[in-house]
Amino acid sequence: MLRFVGAYIIVTGRDSGFFEAESRRLVPVAGPLEGRVAFVTGGGGGLAEGICASLAADGASVAAVDVSREKAERVAELAEANGASAVALEVDVSDRSSVEAAVADVARELGGVDILVNNAAVYPRRAWTEIEEEEWDRVMAVNLKGYFLCARAVYPYMKERGRGNIVNVASITFFVGWTLLLDYVASKGGIVGFTRTLSREVGPDNINVNAIAPGAFPTDAEKIHPDQEGYNRWVLEQQSIKRRGTPEDIGNLVAFLASDASSFISGQTIGIDGGWMMR
Ligand SMILES: NC(=O)c1ccc[n+]([C@@H]2O[C@H](COP(=O)([O-])OP(=O)(O)OC[C@H]3O[C@@H](n4cnc5c(N)ncnc54)[C@H](O)[C@@H]3O)[C@@H](O)[C@H]2O)c1
Repeated sequence: MLRFVGAYIIVTGRDSGFFEAESRRLVPVAGPLEGRVAFVTGGGGGLAEGICASLAADGASVAAVDVSREKAERVAELAEANGASAVALEVDVSDRSSVEAAVADVARELGGVDILVNNAAVYPRRAWTEIEEEEWDRVMAVNLKGYFLCARAVYPYMKERGRGNIVNVASITFFVGWTLLLDYVASKGGIVGFTRTLSREVGPDNINVNAIAPGAFPTDAEKIHPDQEGYNRWVLEQQSIKRRGTPEDIGNLVAFLASDASSFISGQTIGIDGGWMMR
């Protein structure tokens, strides 16, 4: 990674007071995630774009893993533009063999797995009385079981390394309660419990596990709302900070939780919603 390094030089002189000079040059600097490998599910999605870019900018190699190969490739290319090694894989996180094969491929190709970002989700919007049993099972399989399968698959690699960071993407909807998304919201609540208990299970292996609860971000997920302008206005009314959140905001938080700077934080669910939901 190349970063500007600046030195501010003050030279004092007997007669003339002092001279001031600033020198700036580009030097290679090791990022906080240099040498780490990140496995990001839902890796072709809107928030994943910010997540993969931030991890890459901090020096991590990134595997963008998505049920859509095309979407994963787009995000992996963006991460590569940030100077990282990046690969794209087509994986259904609800399918154990697909997950295990992908984790093994990534470990072989990029040299292990240090960071897992569980981010894949589906979010069908309809009245709760219209949810078919198979649809309920599908939402749980992707949004909750998928998180377990990925954590289970990366665990041996993290244990072998003697450290690891797991970040689970939950949602503000769990804390608020959100109509027309009953199965989705239930799955997001499950992620909070999953995060707490997994944190206790793997803490002794020096692996920290945290969740983030995003508010509203303008990705494909938001397109489920019929009145986009009205929704945008309503979101800004809810937030303390009067701008819309961006994938970069999410990326910054995930990169922090994936780094050693967060090594004493575990089992937490951190809201990132512009000061909307306060707990
Ligand atoms: N955008 C928001 O406002 C918002 C708010 C709260 C939480 N979230 C959460 O953030 C995460 C990312 O959402 P997003 O907004 O980027 O939406 P998105 O639809 O852009 O991304 C989700 C990605 O998951 C992928 N995916 C779906 N099923 C999969 C499967 N079986 N296996 C692998 N990948 C699969 C999709 O192809 C998609 O690329 C989700 O967990 C979502 O619940 C988003």
